[in-house]
Amino acid sequence: MKVTLTSNPKAKPDFSNLGFGKYFTDHMLVMEYEGGKWGEPEIVPYAPFAMAPATNVLHYAQSIFEGAKAYKNSEGKITVFRIDDNFVRMNNSAKRMCMPQIDGAKVKAALFELLKLEQDWIPTKPGTALYIRPFMFANEEVLGVHASHKYTFCIILSPVGSYYAHGLEPTKILVEEQLVRAFIGGTGEAKCSGNYACSLMGGEIANAKGYDQALWLDGKEHKYVEEVGSMNIFFVIGDEVVTPALVGSILPGITRNSCIQVLKKYGYNVSERRISMDEIVKAYEDGTLKESFGSGTAAVISPVGVIGYRGKDMIVGGGKMGEITAFLYDKITGIQQEKYPDEFGWVTEVR
Ligand code: COI
Repeated sequence: MKVTLTSNPKAKPDFSNLGFGKYFTDHMLVMEYEGGKWGEPEIVPYAPFAMAPATNVLHYAQSIFEGAKAYKNSEGKITVFRIDDNFVRMNNSAKRMCMPQIDGAKVKAALFELLKLEQDWIPTKPGTALYIRPFMFANEEVLGVHASHKYTFCIILSPVGSYYAHGLEPTKILVEEQLVRAFIGGTGEAKCSGNYACSLMGGEIANAKGYDQALWLDGKEHKYVEEVGSMNIFFVIGDEVVTPALVGSILPGITRNSCIQVLKKYGYNVSERRISMDEIVKAYEDGTLKESFGSGTAAVISPVGVIGYRGKDMIVGGGKMGEITAFLYDKITGIQQEKYPDEFGWVTEVR
């Protein structure tokens, strides 16, 4: 693989105060698609793209992305978590957005070279990781509305801490009843950039009212819970752990799936099904709504302490992280950071 090294390496940030997605490593991976095929991946210095004003992604948003994480242990061993699943999901998103398929194995091998080159950027403190952001965008200079004939695939890396400024303190979410993020037949289950653009207004409304993020409901009846701005959502009602079923408008989160697998293996009663706000309010009122948490690569496992709905706040689990949430946080980050054995086969060493 062609590697062009930077002549100007950056100073590393303070690894104990990283926030999320603010710092980027010295190099990135780029691969171009043209004439019906992908070229070879290359490692180049992290730098802006040169783009014509008519480049179609800027107009019609044909763009998808992924999020994954790499870790380094005290002996310098580098690992990634469920990275193959990211490339499978990326190909599913690409299909929905009329974009070309990538060769997951080839891209993974190129990513591993990038990770080895950038290993000094992998933070090692608990709660930190090197965030991996693969993305693909339409890159043809044309204004006709049709699938592009040219694409750029890229991977950038960012040392990160907690996604939320308040870390593991329970987050506050506001149920959004007017706006819609996704609907059946739309692009909700693809990880396409447009879904996130569409979610921004709900997020801003939530922030203006003192909440962290919006909780989205289904696009048809505005009745059933779907997901939160940057994470999937779970509720513990009685002894059942419930997360909305993947009906087509919900992101199939890899951390969501990890939670389900861990819960099943450890004997919890976990269901993927439709769950309405009426059911959540009823459970809150009769005292059976015990916990709620979000899951995501960036968000990891984030306890939800407050659900704002129709002008009232439901304080979940006394506003504190619940037992099942804490179990999942410990188990999943423990597997990622090698505190626990990799009993599900999710961790791959980067060699
Ligand atoms: C992730 O969790 O990796 C995401 O992509 C969510 C968000 C940061 C957009």
